[in-house]
Amino acid sequence: MSDVVLQAIGLRKSYTQGRSSVEVLKDVNFQVNAGERVAVVGRSGSGKSTLLHVLAGLDDADEGTVLVGDVDLSAASQAQRAKIRNSSMGFVYQFHHLLPEFTALENVVMPLRLGGVAVDVAKRQSRELLVAVGLEQRLEHRPSALS
Ligand SMILES: Nc1ncnc2c1ncn2[C@@H]1O[C@H](COP(=O)(O)OP(=O)(O)OP(=O)(O)O)[C@@H](O)[C@H]1O
Ligand SMILES: [Mg+2]
Repeated sequence: MSDVVLQAIGLRKSYTQGRSSVEVLKDVNFQVNAGERVAVVGRSGSGKSTLLHVLAGLDDADEGTVLVGDVDLSAASQAQRAKIRNSSMGFVYQFHHLLPEFTALENVVMPLRLGGVAVDVAKRQSRELLVAVGLEQRLEHRPSALS
């Protein structure tokens, strides 16, 4: 059985602005195996964010395929992509995109609830995760009151 969790096949993407076109992804091919850690490294503007957005199905490549496990993300509907992101992907953004009117705990509970996890289980798991990263004193803080 294959333990490939993520695969990029022949990804190409360009941005066109007015008459100028920037070729950002030029035939990107790689695979990530279970348990493997991969860093995408490159100078500013080299296409790291573009690649991550395409790998997550947040944006489309002009050509090529992204496989998450056995699922072809490039061919999946927006709803299917959202479900895969909710259950199989995690993001830590440069700008954290937390919901400002909810507490730290509620922000972590939210995606679990949207993924169908029962409220008690979601709260317990979220509390455990926040404690694990040293935020046990900050569960009820709003994002604006977190460092
Ligand atoms: N929406 C867009 N429209 C036009 N050009 C874009 C767009 N988004 C990105 N680009 C261009 O595509 C190239 C890659 O941008 P990208 O944001 O993927 O780079 P990056 O490696 O993430 O950079 P950084 O390290 O600064 O985050 C850059 O030349 C950028 O100007
Ligand atoms: Mg970037």
